[in-house]
Amino acid sequence: MPKIRHLVGIEGLTDEDLDFLLSDDAGSRREGAVALMFHEPSTRTRFSFHQAARRVGLDPLHYDASTSSEKKGETLLDTCRNLSWMGVRAFVLRNKENEVPHRLARDLNLPVINAGDGTNEHPTQALGDARTLVEHFGSLKGLTVSIVGDVRFSRVARSNTKLLTRLGAEVLLAGPTVSGRHPFGVGSPGKVMPVEQALTSADAIMMLRWQDERHITKASDRSMFHLHSTVLEEKAKPHAVVMHPGPINRGVEMTSEVADGKRSLVAKQVEHGVAARARVLQWALSS
Ligand code: CP
Repeated sequence: MPKIRHLVGIEGLTDEDLDFLLSDDAGSRREGAVALMFHEPSTRTRFSFHQAARRVGLDPLHYDASTSSEKKGETLLDTCRNLSWMGVRAFVLRNKENEVPHRLARDLNLPVINAGDGTNEHPTQALGDARTLVEHFGSLKGLTVSIVGDVRFSRVARSNTKLLTRLGAEVLLAGPTVSGRHPFGVGSPGKVMPVEQALTSADAIMMLRWQDERHITKASDRSMFHLHSTVLEEKAKPHAVVMHPGPINRGVEMTSEVADGKRSLVAKQVEHGVAARARVLQWALSS
């Protein structure tokens, strides 16, 4: 039986998988439908998967949990099985709880793609961000990427730290810590750094949204891990770029001047998100 290709996180990917996922679309097409099952709000990920599915020849089916038979007690696994009998060939999942895609992948004989699970991982965001950095800098080798803000609760930070480190970048993490501990646990990739040092050392500064739906943020943390254009111009390297996965809360993580400024790669991240997700769908359905 052919191996089913799930994308639940960065760790399970081989070097060969990464070569495929980070390469350009060779134009190969797939047939069938992909179910986009979002149990948490999303704009970029949901609609870039829609565009990506169309780009590779798949029909994107948007699942609305609030009007589905989940409301009548049907399990997620049974829901996915029923959709598969209608021609769905892969499932894209976003959930509030960690590891929902991992559990589904164990029980389902079709590809499961993680579009963000709780505070755990957001692998397709990281793939799009890696493409953005490679396009801008040519390579990730030797690059310093500082991830700043709500690192501990961020699935974007977790996936990006794993992927960018694997591709040769040094990742610095600056955010509120619990007693100075590594936000992802002892031995995890990424170096914890004071914010000032993270800003001055970086070739790319990735700011993060405060995950207000998951915890209460102190006002002092919001102001400490905030990027203002004056700080950017005075402290960052002249060539340093600014990234943010979105959604941006203008004036909170960074000022509009920074978000829309000449150093910002935010629009590129969204563009590359579509290409990355198209490649993920081709990869998942290429066994
Ligand atoms: N970056 C990101 O995941 O954005 P959405 O929540 O809008 O999908």
